[in-house]
Amino acid sequence: MRTVTVALGEREYPVRIGSQLIGQGGGIAEILPAPRAVIVTNETVGPLYGEALPAGLAGAGVEVLGVVQLPDGEEHKDLTTLARVYDELLGARADRKTAMVALGGGVIGDLAGFAAATYQRGVPLVQVPTTLLAQVDAAVGGKTGVNHPQGKNLIGAFYQPRAVIADTDTLDTLPDRELRAGLAEVIKYGLIRDPDFFEYLEGTAESVLARDREALGQAIHRSCQNKADVVAADEREADQRALLNLGHTFAHAIETGTGYTTWLHGEAVAAGMVMAAEASHRLGLLCGDDRERIRTLIGRCDLPVTGPPELSMGDYLRIMGVDKKADAGRVRYVLMAGIGGAFVTGDVPEEVIREAIEACR
Ligand code: NAD
Ligand code: GLY
Repeated sequence: MRTVTVALGEREYPVRIGSQLIGQGGGIAEILPAPRAVIVTNETVGPLYGEALPAGLAGAGVEVLGVVQLPDGEEHKDLTTLARVYDELLGARADRKTAMVALGGGVIGDLAGFAAATYQRGVPLVQVPTTLLAQVDAAVGGKTGVNHPQGKNLIGAFYQPRAVIADTDTLDTLPDRELRAGLAEVIKYGLIRDPDFFEYLEGTAESVLARDREALGQAIHRSCQNKADVVAADEREADQRALLNLGHTFAHAIETGTGYTTWLHGEAVAAGMVMAAEASHRLGLLCGDDRERIRTLIGRCDLPVTGPPELSMGDYLRIMGVDKKADAGRVRYVLMAGIGGAFVTGDVPEEVIREAIEACR
């Protein structure tokens, strides 16, 4: 087992990464204020791991008061489903010391995390992420929330878990496409702040995709270490946490423009990172070789390096102009001054953005 610490003073917590963690209760018992928990999962993950986790927790002396099984899908990450979680917690007589254990991908982690942040003004939260994306990103760092009809993640809170238990065995059942989408966020860490890791991924991408235990474990560990470092330095996104949004301004346009139906988030981020590389190159910040390395690695991972053909330039610019990352009327982009040298800027000529998008059509 590998462990990463998210160093947040007295709210510091471990991210445990390894095999067979769920069946052993993940060491959760030691960090809970009381030996009681409610598990929140969905109808896909529940049947796969919704028995092993309660059994593991019971073996560690934690009583599971209930397993809340929600419908699967981003469309259920909303206030209606959240209200159902509160109802079930009340029905199970969960009190302020009863822990909430989120078992699933980022949708469950975000929703259950927000329920934990708000139920009885906050109960202990443990994240048990089961997608690659959630293991390397969503479950770490304390962003929780649900969507509103007017936009994604508009209702939420920063609320850190007591522990993150990333059981890599759960990735065995993850569809290939979801694994690849998670890999986009893994590559992102190399691009924003860890050039050696980017190089490591260039050497191991196929092994990671083939779910080689060592390569995958190493990729998750290094990703979590990067995320933990960023969160510890800037928990509330005053500055450097915004670097984690590399590619996301373009990705937001792709996801919104295609109605959130055809592209997975990680796929949109992949194409968005290629666009960010193009813009960086055009501004003289990223050499042609590095731009090609980025495009090549993303392509080798079977991730998109171009945007959806049906999205017009007007669509991109309109959607990005209203992006919530726009600051005082200026769209802020994450660009790269070399691989590993990401920075945020609101000073990018529209012409450069147009050219970058055009180069990825
Ligand atoms: P997801 O939670 O929808 O999971 C993807 C699919 O895989 C779902 O159908 C799910 O049921 C299924 N699944 C999960 N684990 C499985 C397993 N082990 N085996 C088989 N199937 C499994 O999607 P995701 O990509 O994990 O997360 C996306 C969500 O995460 C979005 O809502 C996004 O806003 C959020 N997110 C949050 C943060 C954050 O910092 N909080 C960061 C990134 C993304
Ligand atoms: N996924 C972006 C963040 O956690 O800040």
